Amino acid sequence: MNPTGDLLWHWRAWQRQAEWQATCDGIGQWLDQVQPASQELLIIGASAGWMMPVRWLQGFKKITTFDIDRWAAPLFRWRHGRLLQASGTQLQCHTRDALTPLDAVLRANPNAAVLFDNVLGQLRFQQPSLDHAAARIEKITRSMRTREWGSVHDAYSGPVYPRQSASTTPHGYQSIQAAYLSPSPADHSAVQLAPEFAKFSAQFNAQGDWLDHLTSNVFPSGTPVHHIAWPYAPRYAHWLQAGWIPL
Ligand SMILES: C[S@@+](CC[C@H](N)C(=O)[O-])C[C@H]1O[C@@H](n2cnc3c(N)ncnc32)[C@H](O)[C@@H]1O
Repeated sequence: MNPTGDLLWHWRAWQRQAEWQATCDGIGQWLDQVQPASQELLIIGASAGWMMPVRWLQGFKKITTFDIDRWAAPLFRWRHGRLLQASGTQLQCHTRDALTPLDAVLRANPNAAVLFDNVLGQLRFQQPSLDHAAARIEKITRSMRTREWGSVHDAYSGPVYPRQSASTTPHGYQSIQAAYLSPSPADHSAVQLAPEFAKFSAQFNAQGDWLDHLTSNVFPSGTPVHHIAWPYAPRYAHWLQAGWIPL
């Protein structure tokens, strides 16, 4: 079973398109500021691109998607294929793991920028322990040192008091990635209340314990980070972070 994809994910994403629109707009606004040097893009964890604005993808000559979910490739083509064809963007969709063999994937696509598309924050659900997950994320970011890349991922998620109306959806904002936040992965067992988190959870009306997705050190220090609210379900929200690292 795939804990972060598959039919349940597609069903939710399709059903909640209206509730997630502000989040997709936030991702779109972030991407509109990203000016990639590369004309090729690899999207890892692309799924069907439910939250991906196709207008940004249309700026590339070639898009290659990777997802372990067998529904992702046909649904990505269904959702975005026609508009990518219209912009002359070549599309290749692969049903396979792109993280375990990441170095080989990078070698096979030497000129491509890489987008980790809401996948790094899910790794804690695929690993035997938090230490394994933190080490895996660290290894992935080390592999990216000589590449143009970006990521949008869960930072924290947790229960919220129900929103009164769509207009109470929290606003996104920007910050700069601080220096290394935690001396050891074990410290991730308790959520570190960074000032950004306090600001965000107050807007969200957060309650109870929130889950740390172990992504606080994904971006090198100094990276401009966009914080985007994701009202995932009526009583459960995610705090997404997005950043782009040029060469
Ligand atoms: C939250 S979903 C991504 C949503 C997607 N970006 C969108 O806009 O619809 C996370 C995706 O990562 C995929 N995934 C998880 N591990 C992966 C791996 N090792 N390689 C490629 N895809 C992976 C899952 O199958 C799932 O579709």
